[in-house]
Amino acid sequence: MKPTALITGASSGLGYEFARLFAANGYDLVVTARNEVKLQELQNELEHVDVTIVPKDLSQPHSAEELYKELDSKDIQVNVLVNNAGFGLTGAFDKLSLQEQQDMMQVNMTTLTDLTYWFLPEMKKLANKGEPAGVLNVASTAAFQPGPGMSVYYASKAYVLSFSEGLAGELKGTGVNISTLCPGATETNFFKTARGEKMKLAASAMSATVVAKAGFEGFQKGQRIIIPGRTNAAGAVLAKFLPSSISAKIAKNLNSTDS
Ligand SMILES: NC(=O)c1ccc[n+]([C@@H]2O[C@H](COP(=O)([O-])OP(=O)(O)OC[C@H]3O[C@@H](n4cnc5c(N)ncnc54)[C@H](OP(=O)(O)O)[C@@H]3O)[C@@H](O)[C@H]2O)c1
Repeated sequence: MKPTALITGASSGLGYEFARLFAANGYDLVVTARNEVKLQELQNELEHVDVTIVPKDLSQPHSAEELYKELDSKDIQVNVLVNNAGFGLTGAFDKLSLQEQQDMMQVNMTTLTDLTYWFLPEMKKLANKGEPAGVLNVASTAAFQPGPGMSVYYASKAYVLSFSEGLAGELKGTGVNISTLCPGATETNFFKTARGEKMKLAASAMSATVVAKAGFEGFQKGQRIIIPGRTNAAGAVLAKFLPSSISAKIAKNLNSTDS
């Protein structure tokens, strides 16, 4: 039987690319996002593998449990969970809507955590049987420093990285691999959704195909942290050594639209 990958946020950008990569590498898929039409298009495109569609709004508090129970009722076991769904918002914290920022925290952190919680026991069993098992969490280079102008988003990605690293330590030797992908700016709908298309950061975006491939290959190799692109990797190292007030200043500049 083929292994199964559950990919969140598969309706566009990196999630769409992950779906194509896992399908091309022998996985059946479960894909989720809110846009059902896009998920159906993906299903039609990937007709050589089983693609199960579960449209879901992951900003809803019980969405992870619902998703798990729906797959359980269909006897679908998930080998690999790709926690990719997420979004950012640009602007001053107190000027952005509180509800939107709460939804962002729910999608980027809480649902990601809940999904991991629900699917992990099954993954441990699959790993015990010698099957592939693991979680690929999508954080960001935003995880490495504070980000004025996108404060909640940066903080949410710092959570994803810290949570994933902690979990990787807990699961060492179990056969369940935990990797974290930390992309820099990438050509997807991200900046449009974040209302930040004119941000300086957007100008240096990498291709989504290249970034997802780096994530997939890093995950297959059991790499803990994957940072696509030399400049992004150098920036992450630099952020480790700079005082956070200085790295926050650099991030503030990149998050701005001033020329
Ligand atoms: N692009 C970048 O520059 C960049 C850099 C670093 C990290 N990332 C991270 O990469 C991940 C993927 O984003 P992307 O760049 O591929 O952007 P994208 O093209 O906007 O894709 C975001 C995906 O998340 C899904 N999503 C958003 N809110 C959702 C919700 N409430 N419920 C269910 N699904 C939801 C979207 O699906 P629906 O709209 O159909 O629900 C979409 O499939 C995110 O975690 C993002 O933070 C992106």
